[in-house]
Amino acid sequence: MDAADRRARITAEIQEKTGISEEMIDTLVRKFYANVRNDAVLGPIFESRIEDWESHFVRLAAFWSSVALMTGRYHGRPMDAHMPLPIDAAHFDTWLAIFEKTAHEVCPPDAALHFIERARRIAESLELGIAMRHGKLLGRNERFRLPDSDGPTPKELTHAE
Ligand code: HEM
Repeated sequence: MDAADRRARITAEIQEKTGISEEMIDTLVRKFYANVRNDAVLGPIFESRIEDWESHFVRLAAFWSSVALMTGRYHGRPMDAHMPLPIDAAHFDTWLAIFEKTAHEVCPPDAALHFIERARRIAESLELGIAMRHGKLLGRNERFRLPDSDGPTPKELTHAE
């Protein structure tokens, strides 16, 4: 059995266990963005950056197919796409709340849970990546630096601005 066969078998196993299909993913993605676009805070962030919604849906369906069904259909860099956005922990909480509500509306319970677990993990890693980039997470040395100690903090050494 080669790698492609193994992958197809894993996908089939997940589909059997959760009932997730590509059609369900397509519906979830479209409903999720319809809901997100109605949100007063997140809506404008998406509207100002996404010109072609259809290709966003296609890309995000490939992403969720890779994440939820292990199909390997998505090739991209989510961290790079989110780094420049004006978002922090509160935005991610709202994003997750909308995602979780949509997943429960669109999917049977096992499938919804499968998506939600993965969404939470990915949201956490994006949130941490963005917070680190913006210098909002303090390193150990910086947190425990004594008020009267000399010299630059690690942040002053690594952030030119
Ligand atoms: C506050 C939360 C979020 C906001 C405001 C947001 C916004 C956006 C925007 C505006 C884009 C388009 C970027 C571009 O094409 O230039 C994008 C892309 C994307 N987002 Fe998010 N996002 C959020 C959270 C998430 C989370 C939690 C996930 C995954 C669980 C996710 C997955 C993706 C993916 C896969 C792409 C496509 C990246 C690519 O391949 O270009 N996003 N997001």
